[in-house]
Amino acid sequence: MKKWLYAITLVSMLVWLTACSSNQASGEESSGYVGISMPTKSSERWVNDGENMARQFKELGYKVDLQYAEDIIENQAAQIENMITKGVEVLVIAPIDGQAGLTNVLERAHKLGIKIITYDRLIQNSKYIDYYATFDNFEVGVQQGTYIEEKLGLKEEEGPFNIELFAGSPDDNNAYFFFDGAMSILQPYIDSGKLVVKSGQTKFNQGATLRWDGALAQSRMDNLLSAHYSSETVHAVLSPYDGISIGIISSLKGVGYGKGDNPLPVITGQDAELASVKSIIRGEQTQTVFKDTRKLAEKAVEMADAVLKGEKAEVNDTNTYDNGAKVVPAYLLKPLSVDKSNYEELLIDSGYYTKEQLGK
Ligand code: GAL
Repeated sequence: MKKWLYAITLVSMLVWLTACSSNQASGEESSGYVGISMPTKSSERWVNDGENMARQFKELGYKVDLQYAEDIIENQAAQIENMITKGVEVLVIAPIDGQAGLTNVLERAHKLGIKIITYDRLIQNSKYIDYYATFDNFEVGVQQGTYIEEKLGLKEEEGPFNIELFAGSPDDNNAYFFFDGAMSILQPYIDSGKLVVKSGQTKFNQGATLRWDGALAQSRMDNLLSAHYSSETVHAVLSPYDGISIGIISSLKGVGYGKGDNPLPVITGQDAELASVKSIIRGEQTQTVFKDTRKLAEKAVEMADAVLKGEKAEVNDTNTYDNGAKVVPAYLLKPLSVDKSNYEELLIDSGYYTKEQLGK
């Protein structure tokens, strides 16, 4: 080899070796490409989920394409299609509609060897899903039901108490788990007459709220109040999600609840969104279920990192989440019930929110 060529080769090898070792030193082990598809920015939790994941993937050296579909199913399919074209190796998807819209695009991804992780919400009827990162969704409902049971004192008091029931979006598998979890606590009291649902609407479909839309919940609550509560008081409302709770509270305040000797009923929620935590501090919403999106993001990132390395990811549930085509191996995180008595410890001390954000 000519001397100058030898020198250039040697220098390039040295540069390459230094780059490798500095990559290792900074913890950047990978150079994979990840597509993150989130349902909407209209709810703050998905914004946090997306940003937490993007940050953690980047810290591991991954390139990230993060997209929000604004609750339009066709947008989500098109965005995923685009990610596939750009060459992602793994997809992390929180579907808008778990049952429809993504079948073809997921099949295409699978054929190209792309791994798929379903995030928070289960993608149904696809055998191409590798893993599911979520919270214990039944337990979320149990915590909401138990909160109502404790706040009304259902074990000790004679009652009867009036309650109305709201459920989440019928195209989201989670919504059924939340409702079933809550009803596992509340149904026996409804059966015994200690809890009364004046509207008679006790089934999931009667209380369902398409796309978790707060305005829709508000108008249902308006109708319930005018039809059944002109001379009766509502003592509790089962709400599955903070955005829905906000709508319900507006409706209740509109007819005079929350003033003088007409207190707001016990109202549950989920996600510990900023507006709802502030509402809890003000004494309006009563409870929420906190699902730490930092931890969920961490799990999904671990799963993606494992599949890309050809390794198995850690799971703790291999029975519950049958999506119609397979039982998807899942990791279920623990949700936490939050109210005025523990929000400081769970939300501020854990660094999820600052005091300033909560106006303290
Ligand atoms: C569910 C999710 C809840 C809530 C809801 C509305 O799928 O598990 O935490 O965010 O969607 O966005």
